[in-house]
This record gives sequence, structure tokens and C-alpha cells, in this order.
Amino acid sequence: MLPALRVATRQAAARRAPALMTLQAARAGSTWANVAQGPPVRVTEAFKADPFEQKINLGVGAYRDDQGKPYVLPSVRTAEDNVIAKRLNKEYLGITGLPEFTKSAAELAYGKGSSALDRLVITQSISGTGALRIGGAFLARFFPGAKTIYIPTPSWANHKAVFDDSGLKVEQYRYYNPKTIGLDFEGMVADLKAAPKGSIFLFHACAHNPTGVDPSPEQWKEISNVVKAQGHYAFFDMAYQGFASGDTNKDAFAVRHFVEQGHDICLAQSFAKNMGLYGERVGAFSIVTASPEEKKRVESQIKILVRPLYSNPPLHGARIASEILNDPALYQQWLGEVKGMAERIITMRALLKTNLEKLGSAHDWSHITSQIGMFAYTGLDPASMDKLAKEHSVYATKNGRISVAGITSGNVGRLAEAIYKVKG
Ligand SMILES: Cc1ncc(COP(=O)(O)O)c(C=O)c1O
Repeated sequence: MLPALRVATRQAAARRAPALMTLQAARAGSTWANVAQGPPVRVTEAFKADPFEQKINLGVGAYRDDQGKPYVLPSVRTAEDNVIAKRLNKEYLGITGLPEFTKSAAELAYGKGSSALDRLVITQSISGTGALRIGGAFLARFFPGAKTIYIPTPSWANHKAVFDDSGLKVEQYRYYNPKTIGLDFEGMVADLKAAPKGSIFLFHACAHNPTGVDPSPEQWKEISNVVKAQGHYAFFDMAYQGFASGDTNKDAFAVRHFVEQGHDICLAQSFAKNMGLYGERVGAFSIVTASPEEKKRVESQIKILVRPLYSNPPLHGARIASEILNDPALYQQWLGEVKGMAERIITMRALLKTNLEKLGSAHDWSHITSQIGMFAYTGLDPASMDKLAKEHSVYATKNGRISVAGITSGNVGRLAEAIYKVKG
């Protein structure tokens, strides 16, 4: 190992297990004596341990149908049957994945007529997380400015870890205002302006996780102007295209607007939520380059970066997604099903709000319906979330985020009562 690398590795180990360095000496015989215990207890584990039959799990980041069951989209079932019926071989994909899939994934995100498509480098990825990880690693290796990425406060919990591990420094910008339970637009713009020129900013393209609070199209336009004036670089994470509003074009507004305004963005796409392909790990990472010549160079480096990470991506899920995106009838069916999922979520938001109001809650719950996507930020504090779990068997994360996908017409009444009892 190179001396510098050895030092870096030791420093990283020390960061993960500072308290255990002495233990390491005590158990010098064990190879893993220096491995610290990671933080335990995920919401799902506490939920599973609760014997109460009407317990409610609002912690999962996956869609559930109105019976609270996992949902496989009928279009996905058909596409999978079609794929299997073709009796295709199982040869390796190329490093950047299934071309029919990546081509149509790009069209879905950027729009069919987009000026970006001819100069786009795109690679299939291990879902959205893998796309972010490739993006982080590419920026860490090649971004010409400071290797710092600004993520919103708060953000999806994994963003910081992914970008840290990619070798980027992670900073935060203001995004959510707990007082209004809405967007801190002024704070966000101020932080965009205060960051050193030419910084990297991560934006949730739609259905911000965990808050469900998105900028309006007008606000996105202003954000684009500020990003341009400051010479910043925009990295979009689009994990919920179609899932927010029910319309894949509407949800891609920010991405497309930035491209139209001349930003050479990069983008992480996930098909986990909008196709329900969670465990199949289907996603894409793309970079808009300035020219076909630049595209060639960037693509060659993406391949060099991906090859030692996992050689090439998995086949099956990409074939399913490709079947849907490239078969006009299946594609239309899928659009309808995405809309159906989004509408069920929008309906549950409305039901929760009206139930709370009917109970006589003194609070303004309008944020429940103005927020968008799978998650709602209730504004409940950690103590209230604890009470919800302990006294009412309602499980969600301590930050007050609930997964609206876990609400059904069967449990929304009990949920509203529980929230009312805890919060009033
Ligand atoms: C904002 C955001 N980005 C990315 C992801 C990545 O998900 P996946 O790796 O399952 O596609 C998620 C999943 O919850 C998310 O909420």
C-alpha cells in the first residue's frame, strides 16, 4: 500500500472507531477488534417487534397499495413476462449498461426533443443510489473547482454518506423552514449566493425527500438564474419522476428548464419508485456535455470509473424497464399506473388532513396537502414521534417524516386520531 493511502486508510478507520482503538489493543488477536458497533434500530425493526394488530408503519420508503401491501405494477408484470418469453441469454452487459434502456431513460428525463440528448453521456446504474455514487466519484475525480457538494437541509439521509464516500466534502444549504413547514426560499437563494463561485449544488428534482416541499416552477427559474450567475454546477437527483404529480413531464420541469437555460447538469435517475422496481436496482447517471467531442472523452472516463466498481450493471431490471419504455402500449399503461400511485398518495394526504380537522385539531395541517410525493413532513417533534410509536403503535422516523404510501383508507382514521391525541 502506498504510504499516503495507508495514512488515509488509518485516518478513516480512526473516524469510524475512535473509542475502540484501545479495545483493539486489548483484543489484539482478533482481526476485527477495531470495528465499532454501528447505530442500531431502524423503524421497521421496532414495527416488526410490536404485536398490536392495527400497528401502522409509516417508515418505509416504498409504495404500498390501499391494503398496505407491496405493489407490483401490472405493466411491470407484463414487461417481465415479455422479457422471459424472449428466452434471452444472460451475457454480460457493456460497462454502461443496456443501450435501449439508457436511451429511453434519457428521453424520459430530458424530453424527446431535448438538445441534451446528442451530447449526453449516460450509464446504467445500481438504481438511484448507484447513480449518485458514480456522479460523486466522477466529480471528485474531474470537477475543476472545489470538490465540495452542497446538499439541502435536510436531505435524504444517504446523500451525505454517498458523497462523503465518493471523496467529496459535503456542505449544506438552507432549504426547509420548520416555522412555516415550507420552503425557505430566501435562505436557499442567499446560500446559493454566499457559496464560492463555481460550487456544486445538489437539487432534488421533485418530491423532495424527506420534506415533500418543492420549489414552484417560478422559484426553479429564479434558482436557475442564480446558479448561472454564480457559475455553480447543478447535480439533480430525480428519484421520483412521475411519482410527485402523477405526470412525468411536469416532474421533470426543473431538469429540463436548467438544460434549456444552458446548464450542463448531471443527473441521477431511479426507477425504484416510479416503476416499483426497488430490488431490481434500475437507474441511470447522465452528464450533459458541451459537445459530441467532449461527450466521447467524458464517456471514456465514466467507463474507467465504473469498471473497477462493479464491472457492468445487472440485466434483468433494465430489460423490464426498457420493455416498458420502448413499447408504446405498455408505456401508456405505465404512465397511467404511475398516475394511479401518485393520486392514491394525494388522496391519502387529503383524507389525513380532513380527518384531523374533523377531530377538531387546532393546528393548520395545510402543509400535508401542499407537500408532494411519498413523504410528508408533519412538523411533529421527536418526543411526539416517540409517543406515536409507544402509545399508538404508529411508526415513522423521529424527524416527523411519515411515508404517505403507508396510509390506507383503512388506517387513516386511526392515524388521525393518534396524531390528534399526541399533538392536539
Ligand atoms: C432523494 C432520493 N434519492 C435517491 C434515492 C435512491 O433510491 P434507490 O437507490 O432505491 O433508487 C432515494 C430513495 O429513497 C431518494 O429518496
